[in-house]
Amino acid sequence: MGMLDFIYKRHSIRKFKDEAVPTEDIKELIKAATYAPSAKNIQNWHFVVINNKEKIEEIAKLVERKNALLASQTKDESVKNNFAKYVKYHTVFRNAPAMILIYASQYNPTGLDVFKDIGASSEEIHHLLRPSAGMQNIGAAMENLLLAAANMGYGGCWMTGPNYASKEIEEYIGFKKEGFFLAAMTPLGIPEDREWVSPKRKPVEEVLTIIE
Ligand SMILES: Cc1cc2nc3c(=O)[nH]c(=O)nc-3n(C[C@H](O)[C@H](O)[C@H](O)COP(=O)(O)O)c2cc1C
Repeated sequence: MGMLDFIYKRHSIRKFKDEAVPTEDIKELIKAATYAPSAKNIQNWHFVVINNKEKIEEIAKLVERKNALLASQTKDESVKNNFAKYVKYHTVFRNAPAMILIYASQYNPTGLDVFKDIGASSEEIHHLLRPSAGMQNIGAAMENLLLAAANMGYGGCWMTGPNYASKEIEEYIGFKKEGFFLAAMTPLGIPEDREWVSPKRKPVEEVLTIIE
């Protein structure tokens, strides 16, 4: 086993065995998530675990309902079909025994107050905000969580697809924390099929530029 095996072991898992995840394991995974780096160590995350199959199914249904509603209001046929067709990818958590929702709070990047103070243009401010440091924190936490899950024999799937129903999801689960909003989620469980194939990656040469 090479040192990077745990990275290559992680794949998005969308089908799960009907076995609950013990709370101690969930806590371990959340701990691993919180060991992610974050800008100024702000840790602008909060994890909500849904450990109830009926509630998870209900969340899948409300994503489907919101998808159908939005599709019914869409005038462009190809936009509509493309959106409706992929609803199963927005509900892949459906058969998971657990689901983890990551809430995020706003993080103002270094220099924003200075830019505002010196009257920087909205284009300059947009340029500063575009890399979204606050969301990078959340991404780091999610990746830590998924790598730890893969290493412990669990699987998950980073999801932002269902975010168009985030208002409905937030209302349904009734979780509220001042200044926090739902950013991403993942199902969690034991993978049903261990013979998965990872989607192809772009060759390193294509995504790498070395400046010497
Ligand atoms: C920000 C983000 C959002 C994603 N949203 C979804 C989603 O809504 N539904 C889904 O099935 N997969 C989703 N994925 C998983 C990607 O499809 C997957 O990571 C990619 O195809 C690479 O496959 P792998 O994770 O197995 O390596 C998402 C991944 C990321 C990073």
